Amino acid sequence: MADTRTWFCCFLAFFCGTVLTSTARDTECKKQYFGDSSFVCVCSADQCDYVAANKLRIGDYSVYTSTMTGDRLTRRVYNIDIKPNISNTDITFTINSTHTYQQILGFGGAFTDAAGINILNLTKDVQDRLLESYYSPNGIEYTLGRIPMASCDFSTHPYSYDDVVGDFSLENFALTKEDLSFKIPIIQRALNMSQNILNIFFFRFVEEYSKNGIQLWGLTAQNEPTDGAIEGFSFQAMYFNETSQRDFIKLDLGPTLKARGHKDVKLMILDDNRIMLPRWAETVLQDPDAAQYVSGIAVHWYLNSFIPANILSITHDKCPDYFILSTEACAGSFPLTKPVMLGNWERGESYSHDVITDLQNWVTGWVDWNIALNMQGGPNWVENFVDSPVIVDAENDVFYKQPMYYHLGHFSKFVEPGSMRVDVKSDKTNDLLIVAFITNKKRITVVILNSENKAVKIHLYDIKSGYINAEVPARSIQTYTWMTK
Ligand SMILES: *[C@@H]1O[C@H](CO)[C@@H](O)[C@H](O)[C@H]1NC(C)=O
Ligand SMILES: *[C@@H]1O[C@H](CO)[C@@H](O)[C@H](O)[C@H]1NC(C)=O
Ligand SMILES: *[C@@H]1O[C@H](CO)[C@@H](O)[C@H](O)[C@H]1NC(C)=O
Ligand SMILES: *[C@@H]1O[C@H](CO)[C@@H](O)[C@H](O)[C@H]1NC(C)=O
Ligand SMILES: *[C@@H]1O[C@H](CO)[C@@H](O)[C@H](O)[C@H]1NC(C)=O
Repeated sequence: MADTRTWFCCFLAFFCGTVLTSTARDTECKKQYFGDSSFVCVCSADQCDYVAANKLRIGDYSVYTSTMTGDRLTRRVYNIDIKPNISNTDITFTINSTHTYQQILGFGGAFTDAAGINILNLTKDVQDRLLESYYSPNGIEYTLGRIPMASCDFSTHPYSYDDVVGDFSLENFALTKEDLSFKIPIIQRALNMSQNILNIFFFRFVEEYSKNGIQLWGLTAQNEPTDGAIEGFSFQAMYFNETSQRDFIKLDLGPTLKARGHKDVKLMILDDNRIMLPRWAETVLQDPDAAQYVSGIAVHWYLNSFIPANILSITHDKCPDYFILSTEACAGSFPLTKPVMLGNWERGESYSHDVITDLQNWVTGWVDWNIALNMQGGPNWVENFVDSPVIVDAENDVFYKQPMYYHLGHFSKFVEPGSMRVDVKSDKTNDLLIVAFITNKKRITVVILNSENKAVKIHLYDIKSGYINAEVPARSIQTYTWMTK
């Protein structure tokens, strides 16, 4: 048996990025249908769609649109009006950018073994297109990356960093070939393309990754600790409840990180479904000896349909000094659902629905699960296959950008770290989901999801800038941006 303390899977990592030098491309989506509700965009060595840069003039606004029927982050520019041309069925949203809520940490995905294996199964140029699609200014500009500590289900086999029986001083601790081949080189390349990435783990991992040029921003105390309570759970898991996690942090993890000089690494609790809130957070954070080591609360999305997002606001109100970060989500994970559905629009909608409702309830960012899976939704050693925003078809040396990728891009590209969520009020009840931000550069960013089959006329009123009179297409997601005063 391995020392269980090294059996951790699934943490977050944030990198500090450098300057990007790749040339700006602006090519169209090459559509391909696989018989689902919408299409994927195919990327090969020769071509890949990139997102048009957002250069804004005062008095203009730009709107990026993705629709079930045709657009993928398509940019259009119009003038801001001084008055609305309202007819009485339209909806007016008033944006008050001086009324602010939480500050945004960022958006991202996970560098699992599976993701690395799939990416490396493409030729070099196609690998670059894939990483650029996520992390470069040509892509959707992810700013977060999550790194499982040792193996998880999205590995080809279980392993820890020290599988020597009885080695409690971790003398045999070592990164594995998975880190050295599938994770570190891929993360280094993503860091190199990004202008602004942060990176997560326990100190040995933190130190070993640091030696490889990857500075970790934070870590979670354990991935999905409640999985460990399930009899016969099929993959790597270790049980904590709220009291044992509190004591682990208070007596063991917190003091160790501090003693090793890692007290600036952001420690997150829970890293599990929000159904455990607010109790879990209260138990850990109301103990000052544990709370002193903690920066935030990490949540997963899997049981969200059973527990409305306002539980996050309730948790925030009880523990206002700790950020809440969504650290894992994926489609296709429930029994009887198809793991990979190429071109499925509804899965994109389920992502952006979750992102918006989280952001409306004090969540500071959203991190997806595997950044790339194969056509089967793996590899995964327990066959827990799921979907991903990017599916690699190695046989054809291409990858497919799914609707989920574009839905996430509507946030990640436009809501930079440091942005503040701002107040939006509507004049009548409606079925749109909307969330607004002001970025550090005084740019207002509004994301609107229309999951209905009809278009909706709207007016966005920025007290400081005027009116945007527009129409949100049926089954669409849009990002509106403009400079404010
Ligand atoms: C905008 O928000 C600020 C800060 O909360 C508030 O003082 C101000 O009255 C609000 N303006 C409007 C027009 O509601
Ligand atoms: C980083 O990017 C530069 C410029 O594109 C390139 O020359 C260098 O090889 C890259 N380094 C890595 C580790 O990918
Ligand atoms: C957590 O688990 C420990 C060990 O099994 C147990 O003693 C404790 O009562 C549990 N706490 C809660 C809140 O269930
Ligand atoms: C890598 O690609 C080949 C086809 O080129 C495929 O047969 C193999 O299953 C792929 N590996 C994984 C792990 O998906
Ligand atoms: C209102 O303004 C929008 C955007 O400028 C325009 O598309 C629409 O035709 C206008 N409607 C009316 C009734 O003038």
